[in-house]
Amino acid sequence: MSVYLGVDIGTSGTKTLAIRETGEILASATVEYPLSSPQPGWSEQAPGDWWNATVSSIQQVLAKGQIDPHDVKGIGLSGQMHGSVFLDGSGEVIRPALLWNDQRTTAECAEIEDRAGGRAALIQMVANPALTGFTAPKILWLRNHEPQHFDQVRQVLLPKDYVRYRLTGEFATEVSDASGTLLLDVRNRCWSSELLQRLDLDPALLPQVYESVEVSGTLTAAAAQAMGLPSGIPVVGGGGDQAASAVGNGIVQRGVISATMGTSGVVFAHSDEVQIDPAGRVHTFCHAVPGKWHVMGCVLSAGGSFQWFRNQFGAAEIEAAKAQGIDPYQLLTQAAAQAPVGSEGLYFLPYLTGERTPHADPHARAAWIGLSLRHGKGHLARAVLEGATYAMRDCLEIIRDMDIPVEQIRLSGGGARSEFWRQLQADIYGQPVVLINAEEGPAYGVALLAATGTGAYSSIEEACGATIRVVSQTAVDSAQRAAYNTLYPMYGQLYRSLKSDFATISKLVQNG
Ligand code: XUL
Repeated sequence: MSVYLGVDIGTSGTKTLAIRETGEILASATVEYPLSSPQPGWSEQAPGDWWNATVSSIQQVLAKGQIDPHDVKGIGLSGQMHGSVFLDGSGEVIRPALLWNDQRTTAECAEIEDRAGGRAALIQMVANPALTGFTAPKILWLRNHEPQHFDQVRQVLLPKDYVRYRLTGEFATEVSDASGTLLLDVRNRCWSSELLQRLDLDPALLPQVYESVEVSGTLTAAAAQAMGLPSGIPVVGGGGDQAASAVGNGIVQRGVISATMGTSGVVFAHSDEVQIDPAGRVHTFCHAVPGKWHVMGCVLSAGGSFQWFRNQFGAAEIEAAKAQGIDPYQLLTQAAAQAPVGSEGLYFLPYLTGERTPHADPHARAAWIGLSLRHGKGHLARAVLEGATYAMRDCLEIIRDMDIPVEQIRLSGGGARSEFWRQLQADIYGQPVVLINAEEGPAYGVALLAATGTGAYSSIEEACGATIRVVSQTAVDSAQRAAYNTLYPMYGQLYRSLKSDFATISKLVQNG
């Protein structure tokens, strides 16, 4: 029997999954770790925690699945994108890693645009504008603010690639995650020597770039011993969590799109060519499918808005759900379903943590707008679900505008679990939505990449075709679709009306 391990270095924990080449899941284990925020807007983690969690979750999976270590034929790595791990000349971590949701680099983003010769020139070089979460501004931040640390840096790695280094001793990455550094020439799938030169960064700081299915190294004797595996097991490139999750959802051909609502919400489209939104509202990154790309919109608080609503206003439902042995979201969704389409004129802007797509606005704030005496908790809940789904439609509209065909929308994450929210998505997107059999996200995607890269499949498309299938469809309710089409433009208008006020509020808060 052949077994493949997929390891996903997430923000809250590392998840390891073991599968057979048929796609059958043998075992999974997650090990959590903390995140620290030493100053407002900062977000950091200790790379050593990722390594310990990887070792422990692999050990747990081998034990749970009663897997013969000699059956493990390949390992794939996925992880939170954009983070920066700074290593010195001995491969030691210099300071905690800055993460994808760290917001300290506004000035460095402006510096990058400036050095690149403007926003349009930057997009021309690396296919994307500078965003605070990306890796390049973090490197410049270190140079500008902690020069004593910057002087020691000999290698900058992404989170999963630090784990790769500990597994294999190799400094390596792959194209999908490298795209989110802002230093990759996304068109040609190699580091952008032009931008590196303009930023005065030494190319030797960056690891070798592979395609996602390529073998980037093999398990060292020391790593193998720590985990109870034989040495020499190939470790493939893998993928950033979004590209890996897309592989796990079978988004490997034109026309098939995914809409995933976890804390954040991502609309992800495969693309056979490099397609760039000139306004830079969506990301254009290399896909984990060799020679292909993807376009992706990212909503920062999609499921996160509903989670916030449950935590702040759902005490009674949490209590009642406990007594009934059900999920409190079920009760809150039932209450939402009692309110009419459009929540009687109530809108919710889901910008609890600012917004990435389409506004790229760290100052944007959440709001309910349109309250009246008639509104109760059910309306508030429905407006939150509608607002988060309008935000996802914003991403979808940009993809449609770019002439990327949207033939099938596959749902995953928390937003896919409730029938009510699936219907809402079909009606607001204006297209049927489908569910697939696989629910394991990025770890599943990179386990499939490992199976492909070590020869079990001839291509990732073949691997997805053999393991992933559609299991159900939610049709559009045409009356509700028409109603949402009428209501949606006002959702965008409300942000435009409030944009400058949000910036003012942010200044007021900063000035205490
Ligand atoms: C993608 C992104 C997140 C992180 C953390 O651009 O920022 O998906 O990778 O999950």
